[in-house]
Amino acid sequence: MTTTLAERWGIDPQRFWMHGRQPEQPVRFDGSRQLWAVSGYLEAVQVIGDPQGFSSNLVPLLPVDPDPALTDGNLIQMDPPDHRELRGLVSHAFTRKVVADLEPRIAEVTRELLDEFAGQERFDLITGLAYPLPVIVIAELLGVPGSDRQLFKEWADALFTNQSALSLAEDDLAEQQAGLADQAQPAQEMGEYVLAHAAERRRKPRADLLTKLVEAEVDGKQLTDAQLVNFASLLLLAGHITTTMLLGNTVLCLDAHPEQQSLVRANRALVPGAIEESVRFMTPFTALYRATTTEVEIGGRRIPEKQVVTVQLAAANRDARQWADPMTFDVTRDPNPHLGFGRGIHFCLGAPLARLEGRVALNILLDRFPVLRTDPATRPQFMPSPDSMGVSELPLLTS
Ligand code: HEM
Repeated sequence: MTTTLAERWGIDPQRFWMHGRQPEQPVRFDGSRQLWAVSGYLEAVQVIGDPQGFSSNLVPLLPVDPDPALTDGNLIQMDPPDHRELRGLVSHAFTRKVVADLEPRIAEVTRELLDEFAGQERFDLITGLAYPLPVIVIAELLGVPGSDRQLFKEWADALFTNQSALSLAEDDLAEQQAGLADQAQPAQEMGEYVLAHAAERRRKPRADLLTKLVEAEVDGKQLTDAQLVNFASLLLLAGHITTTMLLGNTVLCLDAHPEQQSLVRANRALVPGAIEESVRFMTPFTALYRATTTEVEIGGRRIPEKQVVTVQLAAANRDARQWADPMTFDVTRDPNPHLGFGRGIHFCLGAPLARLEGRVALNILLDRFPVLRTDPATRPQFMPSPDSMGVSELPLLTS
């Protein structure tokens, strides 16, 4: 029997989907975390497709109240009608054209980063390309200096990675409260940083996304300072670590499935399919959270109101009731209606950018390196955060 990617790299068994396992029930109560877990595909679609029944605002159910100044404008946590209004406003600035126009610059940054390794027999994909590329791109797009990226990394690490999974269990309360308290300081620092840049754009507009956000107007309404800061901070955070995971995971998948890598190398029209399949097979954001607003029935289970529901996107993306051969990594899979970017009103606003960065970077990597393989002597390091799936170190050999 061949070794799977998960076996080869010893992926934590708690990431059960990576090992071809699914819970017996697509909807179940997880007593250890005191929340409901939805792992079935259709059930997940039902939850994220119903913002009335399943709110994205978990604040009322959390053990600590975050400062509202830090959450106003955080699109991901909003419900209709406020969500609709804000998404309309920011979509005016962050358009498909704005993203598409970035293609030459993404290619240029990728080439410059890879030039550092010209002629080398080994390099680390994450530190060398997958981490810096998206940070530089999102920083330049917003109009904040890419050279400040060490700061963004510190904030992102504090706000986003290394967190324990959300739990409402009594025993986990102290840890959860400490985790939330630790985030207050970096969130405030980041807010002040973005606000200073936004204030500058109000005085002196430039050709950047921050200026577009400052100027965006729908029905006579503009973003407030708090909305602007929180949305721009969200982009800065969501805009980098996610694409880092996407690139690392895609290369890891192609390494573990050499016949698929050969297919892609022989036919570059398959690159977008490889990116989509990587998002299905190694979903970067493994879980989302929602709060029930009323009693709901789903997957034959009744969930009372005011319960936290975790939607296990990664597991849903391998649900055998939905997918033919869910455990097979298949770059030609078509259609591929994975949930890796979410679904419905909160569908990832950055998906076109993530897809573009993935496509451009993967093509250039394949052009530059006729051989690209993991190093049996130096294993990839996986990110510890339980709700994400990605590598923080990926040493590669080029011969
Ligand atoms: C929303 C995944 C890249 C910005 C989401 C959601 C998912 C997701 C699952 C839905 C959240 C929910 O329903 O609660 C991903 C993945 C990415 C990626 C897997 C890369 C592979 C990006 C990038 C950006 C971005 C590059 C920005 C530049 C956003 C924003 C939202 C969002 C602003 C909130 C949309 C809303 O609530 O209306 N993303 N994302 N994402 N993503 Fe991404």
